[in-house]
Amino acid sequence: MPKKPLVLLTHKLPEDWIGSSLEDFEVIIGQSKNRGIDKKLAPYLDQTSGIICLLDDPIPAEVITQAKNLKVISNMAVGVDNIDVNVCTRLGIPVGHTPGVLTDGTADLTVALLLAVCRKIGIASEDARQGRWTNWDPIGWLGVDLKGATVGIVGLGKIGSAVAERLGAFGTRLIFSNRSPLPDKEKQLDATQVSLDELITSSDIICLHLPLSADTVDLMDAAAFQKMKPTAILINAARGPVVNTQALLEALETGQIRAAGLDVTDPEPLPPDHALYQLDNCLITPHIGSATHNTRKTMANVAIRNLIAGINGLPLPFCVNPEVYS
Ligand code: GLV
Repeated sequence: MPKKPLVLLTHKLPEDWIGSSLEDFEVIIGQSKNRGIDKKLAPYLDQTSGIICLLDDPIPAEVITQAKNLKVISNMAVGVDNIDVNVCTRLGIPVGHTPGVLTDGTADLTVALLLAVCRKIGIASEDARQGRWTNWDPIGWLGVDLKGATVGIVGLGKIGSAVAERLGAFGTRLIFSNRSPLPDKEKQLDATQVSLDELITSSDIICLHLPLSADTVDLMDAAAFQKMKPTAILINAARGPVVNTQALLEALETGQIRAAGLDVTDPEPLPPDHALYQLDNCLITPHIGSATHNTRKTMANVAIRNLIAGINGLPLPFCVNPEVYS
């Protein structure tokens, strides 16, 4: 019997997410605490037909070029900034991702984070737990209203649009910036497209929904924080390096902006002794945008479908570099 194609799965996933879908492959699973192609997986690289990886698994050129028989890399994420996609494209290797299925989950989390920051839920909950809830304090834990607030969405893709839809229900005034003009979205969302500069200067709340690329790294830097309102709130549920961490820390410490809510950080994970955790005006969650049972299971399913298609030489259902087929 011919040998089954080899698949490297960088992290163990629950049995019921996988079922019998990988039974036609020999699957080697990495040690979950490690990132990327760890010591256990590395010896198999040159024989592997497919890799399923997660968003914090670096898959650099050295790994890709060692995998001489690789037919597909399937990321269980929508963002693929962990993979050297240019090298894959040059070598004709399709890269799969999981767009769409995590839109609602990530939009929900973004709104949750935004509300939590506006209403100081993190610090208020901690104060209650620590015995600092001594009376109903008329001036305690005062937050900001969403109704009437100008919310600026940077990047009106699937997730940015889903956040806008949700925020419309709160009576916010919506503005957005986007690389291309989106007049239909303006009508559909009752939102106004503005330049990034105008968005930065005029928003009460700024939500980032951009992929990480050479163009977006450090988009929110010291100069951007200087232009923001001193009452501005920044929400990042996109990718950590879109915000310059040091500049954000300074802006929060000096009151240049009011507060931040971060589901993503740079670096990731953010070490427990990091100064951002010490600030009452910064709420940090550990990259949980897509973390619902249903969403993660569906992401795994899409990642497996991409993998199987790639190994069988078929177009991936969700491919970030379809030019490999032309
Ligand atoms: C989440 O951040 C993803 O890219 O899937």
